[in-house]
Amino acid sequence: MGVDLAVQIGGLSLKNPIMTASGTFGYGEEFSPFVNCADLGAIVVKGISLLPRPGNPPPRIVETQGGMLNAIGLQNGGVERFIQVKIPMLRELKAAVIVNILGDSIDDYAALARRLDPLPEVHGIEVNISCPNVKKGGVAFGTVPEMAARVTRAVKDNTSKPVIIKLSPNVNDITAIALAVEEAGADAVSLINTLIGMAIDVQSRRPKLANIIGGLSGPAIKPVALRMVYQVAQVVGIPVIGIGGINSLNDVLEFLIAGATAVQIGTANFINPGLSGELVQGLEGYLRENDCKLADLVGSLQT
Ligand SMILES: Cc1cc2nc3c(=O)[nH]c(=O)nc-3n(C[C@H](O)[C@H](O)[C@H](O)COP(=O)(O)O)c2cc1C
Repeated sequence: MGVDLAVQIGGLSLKNPIMTASGTFGYGEEFSPFVNCADLGAIVVKGISLLPRPGNPPPRIVETQGGMLNAIGLQNGGVERFIQVKIPMLRELKAAVIVNILGDSIDDYAALARRLDPLPEVHGIEVNISCPNVKKGGVAFGTVPEMAARVTRAVKDNTSKPVIIKLSPNVNDITAIALAVEEAGADAVSLINTLIGMAIDVQSRRPKLANIIGGLSGPAIKPVALRMVYQVAQVVGIPVIGIGGINSLNDVLEFLIAGATAVQIGTANFINPGLSGELVQGLEGYLRENDCKLADLVGSLQT
């Protein structure tokens, strides 16, 4: 008998809980030799802004112990190019597509949600609130509960699609932000985005990234991500999507047991581009061998 891997994320029905993380899987096309995107729960595409963004100057990626730092600067071609060029290609992949959006102001987020709302190829919207609010002196939306709630409301008011708010770990109390966005109507939360870090070349005494600081991702951040997923899942009633250093079936299981309904695979895609597909099969095999239901795993941590 087949194992049921289906999950419900707000109004979004996914065939399984394995998704790919924004910015680590492009728009799916480069990965199609390695994974059938239609077999995944969903693919989350690279962050889209209203207008094109050139990103930061190089070097903007550096390896660190157990992970990597990136300062891509949210480079992307803007929403109109995404709709013209990427949507037709995503239609061919037949994958469930979640579009990650970013803005410099609340109005940007509202306009992006409105623009994407009529597109049938877009199954859900993931909102990156780690960006600085240019109108409010550059404080990231994701660090102040009231601002995070305002972004959530602006997106919800402008779309009928499920809205996932992607939380930043660079805060004192991530549960306060999670509760604020839940109260504002978020259908789910995903966490974590990258942790702010830096690396120095001691020979030149220069930062290894041109931007000086960047976002840390990969196995090094997994314990922090797992802790935050656990804490958030304890306090919210909406589904939690776990992200951060997931590299193996064991990692997936840890996040589910901590309370995640689904997970996203990020940096590990750069090491093994076929990993997300392998994890769908691995999870199915695990549930079959252990005669266990997915729902029995989620939040099953024994303390
Ligand atoms: C090169 C790179 C680009 C990323 N771009 C985005 C992005 O555009 N939007 C976003 O919300 N997160 C972005 N992220 C963050 C990832 O989606 C993910 O939250 C983070 O890397 C932690 O997961 P991981 O350790 O499995 O990579 C990016 C990460 C990397 C490494």
